[in-house]
Amino acid sequence: MLLKRSRGWEINQNKVTDENLFLNRRNFIKSIAAGAVLAPGFSMMAAPVKAAKIIPSADPNTSLYPASRNRSYTVERAMSDEYDATTYNNFYEFGSHKSIYRAAEALETRPWTLAIDGLVEKKQVLDFDALVHKMPLEERVYRHRCVEAWSMVIPWIGIPLANIIEKLEPNSKAKYVAFETVYRPSEMPGQRKRILKWPYIEALTMAEAMNPLTLIAVGLYGQDLLNQSGAPMRLVVPWKYGFKSIKSINKIHFQESQPKTSWNMSASNEYGFYANVNPEVDHPRWSQSRERRIGNGFFGAKQPTLMFNGYQDEVAHLYQGMNLKKYF
Ligand code: MTE
Repeated sequence: MLLKRSRGWEINQNKVTDENLFLNRRNFIKSIAAGAVLAPGFSMMAAPVKAAKIIPSADPNTSLYPASRNRSYTVERAMSDEYDATTYNNFYEFGSHKSIYRAAEALETRPWTLAIDGLVEKKQVLDFDALVHKMPLEERVYRHRCVEAWSMVIPWIGIPLANIIEKLEPNSKAKYVAFETVYRPSEMPGQRKRILKWPYIEALTMAEAMNPLTLIAVGLYGQDLLNQSGAPMRLVVPWKYGFKSIKSINKIHFQESQPKTSWNMSASNEYGFYANVNPEVDHPRWSQSRERRIGNGFFGAKQPTLMFNGYQDEVAHLYQGMNLKKYF
């Protein structure tokens, strides 16, 4: 008898939060960022959701959300709470701690342009809203694993990067694609400090960029992206450590040589170019064999790290024959 073998990320539907449930939470989280409801450190558990002040979204694309879920892309672990995913963030442009969600409100996300240059048929500057109206959006539930050994499960809304790249027509010399975060020290206080060499830059090989898993996210939990999550558009590469998933992108550059990327430039022995999730390659300062799930408490049980974050079947072929200890 032939048995269907489920892929690492295939569904256990009853663990995935219903869309209607998380839609109501959004306005609550926005109101916290605006200082309307809670004092810092106050737990959401104690707060009445109905009492939240409703702040209308600044996103002109709200009619595009929620997008229908692509049920081929979900995971066996329970989805993280939206509150955790949008109040525990890494976005060094707003501070080198996790509570940057209030500071991130300062970023002006409209109008927003995306410059396309390098080895492409046509160098151009696209308007984000025009782009997002042209491309069908879908929801995908992905594992999200930070190099700091914490993890979440997040329902992203986005566009497969391959669909965007096909329209941009890079030429055959393009071997890599680099992404840049907007450089606005006046709105991003972290960029006024030498935490990293700004702007934040990340990159993928063309094969990684064209992999069906790679997403340009423009939303999460049924709505548009909040600033702290990388509004209005960010990369999501679920088999790699989170630092590859660059936020608030305003430039895409196609090139022949391997781009210099922010964390790799800052500490190349700690943050490799590839940054594939790998339980067998420890960070020089900590183990990567287990991960702490955000929402389980600091002392909550850790879970084993999965090779390629559970996406082995989809991406292992990209690295065939490569020494993953050397190309980490
Ligand atoms: N993008 C920019 N521009 N700046 C950043 O500091 N941090 C990265 C990545 N993208 C970062 C960024 C890191 S280290 C992680 S783990 C993820 O964003 C965190 O995404 P999240 O806050 O949505 O969980």
